[in-house]
Amino acid sequence: MNPFSLDGQVALVTGANTGIGQAIAVALAQAGAEVIAAGRRDCDQTLALMGQVSERAGRQMRLDFSDPMAARDVFAAERIDILVNNAGIIRRADAVDFSEADWDEVMDTNLKALFFTCQAFAKAALPRGRGKIVNIASLLSFQGGIRVPSYTASKHGVAGLTKLMANEWAAAGLNVNAIAPGYIETNNTEALRADPARSRAILDRIPAGRWGRPEDIGQTAVFLSAPASDYINGAVLNVDGGWLAR
Ligand SMILES: NC(=O)c1ccc[n+]([C@@H]2O[C@H](COP(=O)([O-])OP(=O)(O)OC[C@H]3O[C@@H](n4cnc5c(N)ncnc54)[C@H](OP(=O)(O)O)[C@@H]3O)[C@@H](O)[C@H]2O)c1
Repeated sequence: MNPFSLDGQVALVTGANTGIGQAIAVALAQAGAEVIAAGRRDCDQTLALMGQVSERAGRQMRLDFSDPMAARDVFAAERIDILVNNAGIIRRADAVDFSEADWDEVMDTNLKALFFTCQAFAKAALPRGRGKIVNIASLLSFQGGIRVPSYTASKHGVAGLTKLMANEWAAAGLNVNAIAPGYIETNNTEALRADPARSRAILDRIPAGRWGRPEDIGQTAVFLSAPASDYINGAVLNVDGGWLAR
């Protein structure tokens, strides 16, 4: 058996309509998984891209984390082997002016919804003795950032919870890990890339000399979803072109 193959596995990716989530869905499909592309809007484009790399039919599911408990019934309904918690938002303002609404919205989407989606997955996967969770963290799981207090708090939380859940569930056959993407070309970083000074400062610090591509994260998600990573538990893997090594 190819330890990097996802043949026979069913994967659910949140926020799969665009950006990193879309690239993860496509990469998992290419590796052989049957992928459920979940989004708060349609994932038609993702399904079309999955169709170009896989003969297995993909599916889509509406999942809107404006209710952080939205996934409560998803995993009891059918066998899902791999969960990728990718959906996330960012709000920018000086810490001194930051609003409660921008705090709550980001924490609910990035942290509360992620935890309770993992919990719902684990309730179904623990009795089977097998499952993979891949959470999308950030460089701001390790660094402070600027003007993004709720994002930084939420992503530090994602790293912590990833380790906690790994500790509780590793012996039962569930792998819980995270990917910390560097600066990736998506909607999330549009404002940074539109600011020439910030954009240049960021690029100058990346040893690889380029922004990351969503596919860079997709392939890492395949690894953390595959049998090849069965002995990896509670890791937060930087995929950042060397940013944190600098
Ligand atoms: N780009 C980067 O450099 C970078 C770096 C580190 C970490 N990340 C993380 O990577 C993940 C994906 O971000 P991205 O860069 O691909 O940004 P993106 O293009 O803005 O994608 C974010 C995804 O999350 C979805 N989402 C947001 N709120 C949601 C909600 N309430 N319910 C369901 N889905 C929701 C979005 O749906 P809509 O399209 O409907 O908004 C979209 O599918 C996020 O967790 C982000 O924090 C990104």
